[in-house]
Amino acid sequence: MAKPQMTTTGGNPIADNQNSLSAGPRGPLLLQDYQLIEKLAHQNRERIPERVVHAKGSGAFGTLTITHDITKYTKADIFSQVGKKTDMLLRFSTVAGERGAADAERDVRGWALKFYTEEGNWDLVGNNTPVFFVRDPLKFPDFIHTQKRHPRTNMRSATAMWDFWSLSPESLHQVTILMSDRGLPLSYRHTNGYGSHTYSFINAAGERFWVKFHFKTRQGIKTMTNREGEQVIAKDRESSQKDLYEAIEAGDFPQWDMQIQVMAEEDAEKCAFNPFDLTKVWPHADYPVIPVGTLELNRNPENYFQEIEQSAFSPSNIVPGISFSPDKMLQARIFSYADAHRYRVGTWYEALPVNRPKSAVNHYHLDGSMNAGYSTSANAYYEPNSFNGPAESDRFAEPPLKISGDADRWNHRDGNDDYTQPGNLFRLMNPSQQQALFNNIAEAMQGVPQEIVDRQLAHFDKADPAYGAGVRAALAAHGDGVTNNISVQEEPQAEPATA
Ligand code: NDP
Ligand code: HEM
Repeated sequence: MAKPQMTTTGGNPIADNQNSLSAGPRGPLLLQDYQLIEKLAHQNRERIPERVVHAKGSGAFGTLTITHDITKYTKADIFSQVGKKTDMLLRFSTVAGERGAADAERDVRGWALKFYTEEGNWDLVGNNTPVFFVRDPLKFPDFIHTQKRHPRTNMRSATAMWDFWSLSPESLHQVTILMSDRGLPLSYRHTNGYGSHTYSFINAAGERFWVKFHFKTRQGIKTMTNREGEQVIAKDRESSQKDLYEAIEAGDFPQWDMQIQVMAEEDAEKCAFNPFDLTKVWPHADYPVIPVGTLELNRNPENYFQEIEQSAFSPSNIVPGISFSPDKMLQARIFSYADAHRYRVGTWYEALPVNRPKSAVNHYHLDGSMNAGYSTSANAYYEPNSFNGPAESDRFAEPPLKISGDADRWNHRDGNDDYTQPGNLFRLMNPSQQQALFNNIAEAMQGVPQEIVDRQLAHFDKADPAYGAGVRAALAAHGDGVTNNISVQEEPQAEPATA
């Protein structure tokens, strides 16, 4: 079969793609060699900014299949029938590293889901942990600064991390998970996913419920020790990418059980803790998990850049029957993500194939950079209009939400128990998991000033005296040498040249 004719981006046929246009065989080059100029200019624009967090990731497409009827809680079309299948995309990530970072790092794993439903895209942008480090979004950029590079040394700083965490006791729950065996997963396939925030469900009768989403791995939770992680990284920086890609290529499709926890709207007032606090879980005994469906990843992207790097997830993408909650962190994320995408990808990021809803999209946004042609009818380019342009419909209105209180900068630490749930987590670990936790913390604290270590130890003590005691013992056992166990091999010196 004849090969297609190679062209410039303007479609002009190319005669020679091996030799640039020069004055004579030795050059110099001619400015009119547009092919060369286009090629170099395009290369200069091949990268887009990496995500400010969660820059390193891997993704795959798949299906959510509904196995249980939850229509009494939500009218969302995606859950409307047992057996219903919805196409979806899942991008996993690590948080702190740059795009070239190694996968096998101790870090939270991102779990960003995009469901292409018949009523628009539903994005559930969670993590492999049910809680988070902070509960007020005003603290998020500072927290992220401690995870990224120190401005002067250009290295990551354990001092910054433990300084921030020790001054922010609400982080203890997530820090305990991060330093536990689950903080270094064997691969993405071996993690659970959590929506983490409390969201709301609205049913056909207009009743609101509070809901949490969970995805439990059928591959089993599998984790690595720090030493195992180091060995993996020494040989392979893309271990999670490789694992996911190869499993799917081999037809070994990873699966997760989707589950929810549900709370009646009025029960939020009666709950012993703030159910909208992202540093807390809802105990299973009080809010048992309810099965919903099966998530399966079964297709690798054809083009990583187009479908994964350009994918743009936002908690602002909700569908009828699923909505927000008063969680302050969620509220901020509703703003932050679409803003990030307009900067990172561009104004029309939702029109790119990977982000484009599979349902109809009708709005009145006009023009803008890289507008590839969403259009309404020629005369209906404003609203309201008399030319049959798209119109609102009140059947999608949410029931009113009661809120109250004085506008103020409320202290989110007042009356908040930051210790019981981390303590519960510590107490459910078996002795070897607890020992791994102690060791991981002791290693991560190497080089941190004693004053900061002591401040953090006081938090461990408050969660459980055995937690603090275990970390103290691990610190004493580790001494200073733990991160410096590399033996230096010197190269033999070359003999000086003689005259
Ligand atoms: P349960 O005993 O009912 O639940 C404990 C849950 O802890 C398990 O279902 C499992 O969650 C999770 N878990 C087990 N081992 C670890 C580990 N090493 N690291 C992290 N998570 C682990 O008790 P509660 O519901 O009262 O929760 C107790 C503690 O468990 C919480 O304080 C929280 O830290 C943790 N947890 C609770 C979750 C929840 O939604 N209630 C979810 C995840 C953790 P899973 O089945 O999701 O793997
Ligand atoms: C990525 C902001 C909290 C999970 C991002 C990005 C931003 C951001 C700007 C990059 C988006 C992009 O360029 O595509 C924030 C802010 C937060 C917050 C302001 C708090 C106020 C959280 C929490 C979770 C989370 C609590 C999980 C429960 C993720 C994930 C990604 C991400 C998974 C990667 C998405 C992808 O794969 O493209 N966040 N974040 N973030 N965030 Fe957050």
